[in-house]
Amino acid sequence: MAAATETATAASCVFAVTLVLLLSTAVESRFVVEKSSISVVSPFDKRSKHDAAIANFGVPDYGGSLTGTLVYPDKGQVGCSAFDGDRPFKPKSSRPTILLLDRGECFFALKVWNGQQAGASAVLVADIIDEPLITMDSPQDSSPEAAGYVEKIGIPSALIGRPLGDTLKEALKKGEDVVVKIDWSESMPHPDERVEYELWTNSNDECGSRCDEQMNFIKNFKGHAQILEKGGYTQFTPHYITWYCPRDFVQTEQCKSQCINRGRYCAPDPELDFSSGYSGKDVVLENLRQLCVHRVANQTNRSWIWWDYVSDFHIRCSMKHNRYSKDCAEEVMKSLGISVEKINKCMGDPEADTENEVLKIEQELQVGHGSRGDVTILPTMVMNNVQYRGKLERNAVLKAVCAGFKETTEPPICLSGDVETNQCLENNGGCWRDNESNVTACKDTFRGRVCECPLVNGIQFQGDGYEACHAVGPGRCSVNNGGCWSEHKNGVKFSACKDNDLSGCHCPAGFSGDGKTCQDVDECKLGTACQCDGCSCKNTWGGFECSCRGDQIYINEHDTCIERKSSKLSGILTVVVLAVVMSVGIAGYIFYKYRLRIVTWFFMQSYMDSEIMAIMSQYMPLDSQQNQQVVHHDNEPLAHSSSV
Ligand SMILES: *[C@@H]1O[C@H](CO)[C@@H](O)[C@H](O)[C@H]1NC(C)=O
Ligand SMILES: *[C@@H]1O[C@H](CO)[C@@H](O)[C@H](O)[C@H]1NC(C)=O
Ligand SMILES: *[C@@H]1O[C@H](CO)[C@@H](O)[C@H](O)[C@H]1NC(C)=O
Ligand SMILES: *[C@@H]1O[C@H](CO)[C@@H](O)[C@H](O)[C@H]1NC(C)=O
Repeated sequence: MAAATETATAASCVFAVTLVLLLSTAVESRFVVEKSSISVVSPFDKRSKHDAAIANFGVPDYGGSLTGTLVYPDKGQVGCSAFDGDRPFKPKSSRPTILLLDRGECFFALKVWNGQQAGASAVLVADIIDEPLITMDSPQDSSPEAAGYVEKIGIPSALIGRPLGDTLKEALKKGEDVVVKIDWSESMPHPDERVEYELWTNSNDECGSRCDEQMNFIKNFKGHAQILEKGGYTQFTPHYITWYCPRDFVQTEQCKSQCINRGRYCAPDPELDFSSGYSGKDVVLENLRQLCVHRVANQTNRSWIWWDYVSDFHIRCSMKHNRYSKDCAEEVMKSLGISVEKINKCMGDPEADTENEVLKIEQELQVGHGSRGDVTILPTMVMNNVQYRGKLERNAVLKAVCAGFKETTEPPICLSGDVETNQCLENNGGCWRDNESNVTACKDTFRGRVCECPLVNGIQFQGDGYEACHAVGPGRCSVNNGGCWSEHKNGVKFSACKDNDLSGCHCPAGFSGDGKTCQDVDECKLGTACQCDGCSCKNTWGGFECSCRGDQIYINEHDTCIERKSSKLSGILTVVVLAVVMSVGIAGYIFYKYRLRIVTWFFMQSYMDSEIMAIMSQYMPLDSQQNQQVVHHDNEPLAHSSSV
């Protein structure tokens, strides 16, 4: 019973005042404590087998077992503070250490964390009161410091009853070597070649670390889940917990804002503030939509689309970014090729005073029956009809799923971890793609496909990856003109993309628009062009032309017209200019002749010099001069080395 109340209250502190969970009975909910077995292997006279309750954190070794030497610390037996020394419980022999600690004084998870830090391979917590086994749950959001270590716990742990704890401690006190085996192989039923599993979740993404844990899990497990589902190895069904409003309160504002179908299906207000932010009703509706996505997709044997929808919805339509809405949901559906019409049909009328077929089933299923317990903790995973215990993490869950197959029927993914999913091949995974340049935002990873704007040939793309990516940075105009407008006409090209302008698309001068499309500006109509007196304006593509009245010519820089006709003054000017030109011409001719003579004279001189030297060199060695000539040669070719 302690189990039931502890966990049920833990879950109910999230609930708003008036909402109620449909459980087995109002008072006594059926929370099932999932168990592993503990066998005392030695000493011989203590050999026995017992149950232990698997903790709801850490990584239980589903399908396997762990045999280790039991250690009970000399001090700090509650394990609430870090143990002294460097990993004092690291294995002394080839056998791992299983640390025994007492319940009390702090969170279970903290004890296990301290044990892991000290080198233990598993932690057993001995109860200190006589009672049936309870499930050790992770701390709620009330302790933010706990969030730091809970997710780092990677070892298994379990709670054992007080009598077994006492027996073990007694044997250790006598100095006996106590060896125990924790066995999870029967913790997960494995009747056949298919694992049926469920995830009880919630579309609310603003509930602190529990919501973050769910979303991270969905994103990370998506790839595995889809491979398992496509291969027919598993049948996965998502579920959503719903509350209801007690009849007397149906007309209250609280129930109206948190419920649909007249108080039948409710969810707590995400902020627990009825006056602002999202209401519980928004959450129920999205939960219903996600259920319908699974249903509708399942009808065409594509149930795994749910994983894409939920993770995309979380990325694109989060409460944090104020995008949690029907419109956003429909955008996600469209990019995944889900029929919005079918989903709306499946969802029915939320205002109707009738049962909703889909949510009614959910409410019934959250009540435990048979070996199944009530679902009261969120998130909860149920596999082959038993609740999964341990942290909601990709590899821990995969291990548990794999333990649910009859031996030797495990799918290959259970034997090898990472696999490609090839999800981009179909409809580009619902991601953005540019048909012209063949650039895509779809990337295949072992986590399933992700839509992320790529880096192609050194050009970075940015955007949401679903609807839009655009090239940014240098070189961006070489790809599809950077997503900007450009046009070719009459041998002229205008473009709204500039490589060195990183801020986007801007229409060039003479055009207006947002850069994606640009239109020619009619400067003449605007009245900004051709202000000159009496001139006329003609618009052209990307510019304009002004023409002046009569025989005048247009001066662009000054936006004025001037006369073309020559006046008396200009006649005189012409005469003067002509005279100048002529005198310059004559002077030039004289100079030319004179200079020619000088040049000829110089030329003769140097020609004769080299001639004489050449003749002389035939009779004399002229050693030093030759050397000099070589040096000269290097610096001034042709200077004095003519060979004539
Ligand atoms: C999904 O479809 C299968 C048959 O293809 C059916 O057995 C199963 O019940 C369906 N699941 C849901 C949740 O509708
Ligand atoms: C879906 O699968 C079931 C069982 O494998 C089969 O009977 C049914 O015809 C399939 N439906 C479609 C639309 O392929
Ligand atoms: C790209 O091509 C696909 C099919 O070939 C088409 O459905 C899609 O609308 C096209 N996208 C764009 C942006 O042209
Ligand atoms: C785009 O790239 C893919 C994969 O590289 C290739 O199969 C396809 O033919 C390409 N399409 C075009 C139009 O270049």
